[in-house]
Amino acid sequence: MKELVKTAQHMRKKAKAPYSNYTVGAALLTIDDEIFTGCNVESASYSLTCCAERVAIFKAISEGYHSFKAIAIATENGGSPCGACRQVLWEQCGDIPVFTVDQNNQVKTTSTKVLLPNAFDDQSLMK
Ligand code: THU
Repeated sequence: MKELVKTAQHMRKKAKAPYSNYTVGAALLTIDDEIFTGCNVESASYSLTCCAERVAIFKAISEGYHSFKAIAIATENGGSPCGACRQVLWEQCGDIPVFTVDQNNQVKTTSTKVLLPNAFDDQSLMK
């Protein structure tokens, strides 16, 4: 957990957030203990911005990793993942612990299920 959190904090430095100045770092742990990282990348058209969590998840999946154990997300104020990321986290990672950490190293632990109760997912499409 410590290494994952540290990696997420380090990734804040890579964030490209010239519009919000809100830097986010993410570190995603695979079941075979590999870590995939992400940072937020903003766009001048704002809505094309990609969050750190989704960058990490898409990097991992594009490299062939599909099973995950935990994610750490670092921000200035310990902010919680946005709604879009909660959906992607739930669909791609299932129920995993989510560690959020602020700039003073305060870590809070929650889970994807707690963050997105009654989720819409593949089960919802079953007829
Ligand atoms: N952001 C993330 O990277 N992850 C989240 O879960 C919340 C928001 C980014 C998007 C944008 O670059 C900045 O934080 C402010 O919204």
